Amino acid sequence: MRPQTLRARIAAALPVTALPGPLPLRYHAAAPHSRLSDLSKTPPYWAYPWPGGCALIAHLVAHPDLVKGKCVLDIGAGSGLVGIAAALLGAASVTASEIDPAAREAIALNAALNEVCITLSRDLLSGPPPEADLILIGDLFYAPDLATRVLAFLTQTGTAEALVGDIGRADLPRARFRVLASYPVRDVGDPPSAASQCGEILQFIG
Ligand SMILES: C[S@@+](CC[C@H](N)C(=O)[O-])C[C@H]1O[C@@H](n2cnc3c(N)ncnc32)[C@H](O)[C@@H]1O
Repeated sequence: MRPQTLRARIAAALPVTALPGPLPLRYHAAAPHSRLSDLSKTPPYWAYPWPGGCALIAHLVAHPDLVKGKCVLDIGAGSGLVGIAAALLGAASVTASEIDPAAREAIALNAALNEVCITLSRDLLSGPPPEADLILIGDLFYAPDLATRVLAFLTQTGTAEALVGDIGRADLPRARFRVLASYPVRDVGDPPSAASQCGEILQFIG
């Protein structure tokens, strides 16, 4: 499917929704009628705000100086909401990296909804890390091979600070991180009655 066609179909199938929380973030959210399997052959991670990303957004709101005037990289951006939050909080530039073409179209739509500029990038994990002050990673430690690649990438990032948002996924190598904070979050698929989970902010320490 051509990117413009895919973008238009995502916009039509996923209604605009407000993300609960302190930032006025809007995004195209999966709804019962969205027929996501018609839009993407791969799992539509981009149609949901993941708890690691929501924890990162809460952390950026609590500490806006982390992003103000900074060059920010959002790896495994999904819907793009983490990078969009960084842009709304004053980041000088935001690049969102995504392997999924449908996610890149969703990020473009969501950035436009929130009137921010996001540069889209494909997989960056194989090459040398691009220049950045801050690297944000929401819920990317969900598979062993991917976790190994993310870790190898982070070891090359030089002076950039790297923060991960995570709810205790098995493939996160916790010994390589320091816990900075935690926020109550909901996992994708949790019913409204479910207790909130602990979304940790972990700083990469090498
Ligand atoms: C669980 S989702 C999290 C999305 C978002 N960070 C959040 O917290 O809402 C993980 C995302 O990482 C993307 N991803 C997986 N491997 C990647 C890679 N090598 N480079 C960039 N994105 C990747 C997937 O396509 C998916 O959209």
